[in-house]
Amino acid sequence: MRSCTLKTTINFEGNALSRLATLEYKKVFIIADPYTVSSGLIKAATKHLEASKIEYTVYSDVVPDPSIEKVVSGVTALVKEMAPCLIAVGGGSAIDLAKSVRLFAHRMYPDYAPYFIAVPTTSGTGSEVTSFAVITDSQKNVKHALIDEFLLPNEAILDVEMVKSVPASIAADTGMDVMAHALEAYVSTEADYFSDMYAEKATSLCKHYLVRSYNYPKTHENKAREKMHVASCLAGVAFNAVSLGICHSIAHQLGAQFHIPHGRANAIVLPNVILYNSELTPTTFVLSDPAPCVSKYANMSRRIGLIGYDDIACVKSLTFFIRSMQIEMGMPIRVRDAIPKVSYEEYESKLDAMADAALLDRCTPTNPRVPTKADIIEILREIW
Ligand SMILES: NC(=O)c1ccc[n+]([C@@H]2O[C@H](COP(=O)([O-])OP(=O)(O)OC[C@H]3O[C@@H](n4cnc5c(N)ncnc54)[C@H](O)[C@@H]3O)[C@@H](O)[C@H]2O)c1
Ligand SMILES: [Zn+2]
Repeated sequence: MRSCTLKTTINFEGNALSRLATLEYKKVFIIADPYTVSSGLIKAATKHLEASKIEYTVYSDVVPDPSIEKVVSGVTALVKEMAPCLIAVGGGSAIDLAKSVRLFAHRMYPDYAPYFIAVPTTSGTGSEVTSFAVITDSQKNVKHALIDEFLLPNEAILDVEMVKSVPASIAADTGMDVMAHALEAYVSTEADYFSDMYAEKATSLCKHYLVRSYNYPKTHENKAREKMHVASCLAGVAFNAVSLGICHSIAHQLGAQFHIPHGRANAIVLPNVILYNSELTPTTFVLSDPAPCVSKYANMSRRIGLIGYDDIACVKSLTFFIRSMQIEMGMPIRVRDAIPKVSYEEYESKLDAMADAALLDRCTPTNPRVPTKADIIEILREIW
């Protein structure tokens, strides 16, 4: 038997943040990305608390790719207040920090389980609907994925006002993370009808709105930002149910070793992993016994309006489309362009450790093709 449950209540469209005015709690602890505080963006959320006379504290010791040390500091601050409600306001980093802080505070004080609301300010990780949190061990340069049902927010608030200020390059990075979530969930060994449905809609929204969302600072097309915010959440629902694959396992290593932003790393790896999973090379034209993921990638390719005369052509079309989006959004398409100060010798010296860590990554078991260490090293060399 299999099950599909969507536990997080998702508030979206209209003035979604006004939900905060109706909270039944009188004290709230907010973990916020410092950008939202310095820019005043956080007021779009706190004004609703003030209107309802809800007391709040803002904690903003948040950095991209939060470390274990930041989690420890956050737990200390939260348990000092013991607020009955925790709100995370920020990108994946702030939300993951808040999730981890809440989890460890609960482990220290099992009776303490604050109601948890996530307000994403980037459209990428889908962290507002996942039971994952990614924490970095900054001593060992390794990212750890925490997985626990307790990490799942009770509510998510998707309000376009929170993402209008996202610069074009971050919209590109985070948007490609959405593509990677949706496509990896779609071919996961655990994929089912429900996850496929969320993944298909998320990929289709990316096809139509990601580059337009990137262009928002020039066009001010609200609809593009709003659609990508929903796409991010839909892809989050998909991968929360069926997990991801080795695109993420490899991207996590590029993030931990070289600090390439998460979505940018995924975008570089994704086309190569699609070809690897499909057992295709650029010069393959016929497959006598194609892997099942070939028809799935081809199906997705057709669903989002790409064309090809057979499944192989459709899969290749999908990889070309991803590369063309990267180019249109000024993103690096090779690792060496993302880390121009790192020499190939330095990169090569890390391949062994990165491949070992990628094989152990929690996203690897659901990849549709079982990779060897040599396979991962080959992909890492191809993308240099
Ligand atoms: N928990 C999950 O399910 C999950 C899934 C994928 C990735 N992740 C993790 O999430 C993290 C990445 O999150 P992210 O891509 O959202 O980036 P992020 O949260 O690290 O933010 C990136 C940058 O954008 C800025 N920013 C955030 N919101 C902004 C806004 N509205 N306007 C202007 N600037 C803004 C931040 O200050 C930061 O400098 C990584 O640590 C990754 O490993 C978690
Ligand atoms: Zn991701």
